[in-house]
Amino acid sequence: MFNRNHKQMKHLLWILLCSVVVAATAQTVPELYQGADLPLGEKLIADSQCDACHTRNVGGNGYAIYRPAGRVNSLGALRGQVEACNTMLNLGLFPDEVTSIAAVLNRDHYRFK
Ligand code: HEC
Repeated sequence: MFNRNHKQMKHLLWILLCSVVVAATAQTVPELYQGADLPLGEKLIADSQCDACHTRNVGGNGYAIYRPAGRVNSLGALRGQVEACNTMLNLGLFPDEVTSIAAVLNRDHYRFK
């Protein structure tokens, strides 16, 4: 009897945990960036040396280049800027990769809704 309840309790906790994770993910990836792959975005940012070059421009860890109150002031503008870098730097990123990078930058720096 106790064992059975215990199992059900575990099951309930698991469902609860899953809903929390789903809610958290929904919050970090806005509607406009639907389908963004955050781990892929993180990997592409590292592989493309984004931070290394930004550091040369603004010092520190390079994060100061990201200015949410500046010219890049919306989700659309952020994705557009990443696309512009993609073209300028000849990175050859696919559209879904550009979206994934923009989603990571938004989660970590811009936080647009
Ligand atoms: C060769 C150097 C270089 C590389 C590599 C580079 N950037 Fe940049 N990036 C810049 C410079 C310089 C600026 C500032 C441009 C300006 O505001 O006039 C900038 C600005 C930006 C901005 C706009 C910041 C803001 O809020 O105004 C974003 C977003 C950005 N870069 C993303 C990226 C991403 C993502 C990558 C990697 C895929 C990347 N950049 C790679 C040089 C670089």
